[in-house]
Amino acid sequence: MEIIHVTAECYPVAKAGGLGDVAGALPKYQNGLGHTSKVVMPMYRTKFLYNNEWDLVHEGGQYLGHQWFHYSIIKERTSKLGFDLFLVDINGLLDREKIYGYDDDTERFVGFQIAVCDWINSWNNKPDIIHCHDHHTGLVPFMLKYCYSFNRLEDVPSVFTIHNAEYQGWMGWDKSYLLPSYDSWKSGMLEWQNTINPLASAVKCAWEVTTVSPNYMNELRYNANGLEALFEYEKGKCKGILNGIDNVVWNPATDPLLVKNYDNGGVKEGKLANKIEVCQRFGLDPEKPLFIFIGRLVGEKAADVLPDAIRSAKYHYHGQACFLILGSGESEIESRLNALVHQFSGYVNTFIGYNEALAHLMYAGADFLLMPSRVEPCGLNQLYALRYGTVPMVRNTGGLKDTVKDFEDFQGFGICFEQANIEDISDSIGRALHLYNNQSEVFSWMRNYMMKIDHSWNTSAKEYIELYGSLKKDVGKHSL
Ligand code: GLC
Repeated sequence: MEIIHVTAECYPVAKAGGLGDVAGALPKYQNGLGHTSKVVMPMYRTKFLYNNEWDLVHEGGQYLGHQWFHYSIIKERTSKLGFDLFLVDINGLLDREKIYGYDDDTERFVGFQIAVCDWINSWNNKPDIIHCHDHHTGLVPFMLKYCYSFNRLEDVPSVFTIHNAEYQGWMGWDKSYLLPSYDSWKSGMLEWQNTINPLASAVKCAWEVTTVSPNYMNELRYNANGLEALFEYEKGKCKGILNGIDNVVWNPATDPLLVKNYDNGGVKEGKLANKIEVCQRFGLDPEKPLFIFIGRLVGEKAADVLPDAIRSAKYHYHGQACFLILGSGESEIESRLNALVHQFSGYVNTFIGYNEALAHLMYAGADFLLMPSRVEPCGLNQLYALRYGTVPMVRNTGGLKDTVKDFEDFQGFGICFEQANIEDISDSIGRALHLYNNQSEVFSWMRNYMMKIDHSWNTSAKEYIELYGSLKKDVGKHSL
């Protein structure tokens, strides 16, 4: 099958979060299964753009509202990523350094989606599947079905994957003029609660909707930032497929970003060498268990609770543990964490920013990974932690619930808690310390066990292919 993934992020080209990791890995695994899976994304001004060679494959033009724009599609020359990568260049609109965060993001991503539909429409052979990810590509299923200029693609099955339903891409009706002309009887397919809601529109218009874990799919029917009723109504075409990880990029036995590689055989020594390196860099004590947090410093990840939870653990357990936090986000959380670094120097440190290489080293060197997320559609960090023998400490929510079992349950290998509050996090740190200090056999059994769990994309890539296959059978049933 020929599949085209439409996404705003793709690792290593441009990544702001887990979406980038998924878009950079799933197509590769689908190709490994004998399919032709490609990626199309905006051409931002990233290092990857300048460090690679490109061929121009298509040029076209379309209207964004009343404004005619020209776009070109360039293709990475070597396909070394394991899939064909296409970038959409729209001068003055997409060619910026950051992925998101501009005042005209609505125009930027609507323009991107129009260009993608127009380009696919120009192909001689239509693709088998158009697979869109998150709200930045959420208007594509609508455009394929109801915009007159793309009528020819109306019978191409569209799949929409929700990586995070908190962000929906709302835009006022005054922006509707940006869209190519469409059947006005269908304007309800764009709407949710009186605004254009790209995520809701995709749930209504895509042939199939997936979320990145089965448990998150269930949760959305009760907690979906205003879309609960929609998920309940559309549940028949919604399915949870658990994310995987790229086992080649994330492999402690070969990872070039570690100071010592290790596998199941030498977990203890391997992790210790990496821990010493991390601790030296950040002025922490490698004799103490190392707890890490990696991620956006925002309320959704419960990063706001971290400073007080760490403070409470520090007092309760008399400084038995060290903490290292990597991430950036809300400035208030950043400064509260930095204050903690001053107060508890030698016990707590931070790296405010994003650093992929440091993340690899931290997974290898840490003993425990904290993930108290309030919302976690799948979560990849706990999967990376498992692969690197780092015990995940997670709140029982979303994909965390699907992938981590408490060690006090039969064959469990993590620490689970219910609430994203100071007490639960601090108590869990207490349990972790007990495990580390008094149950060393269980601790080492857990590390070995978790490293053997296969969370690669092998299984889930197949599940997507099966889903596509079932949609291909439905072609015809979905015509207007
Ligand atoms: C988003 C979600 C995260 C998920 C990732 C990839 O970043 O917050 O839970 O793992 O997308 O699907």
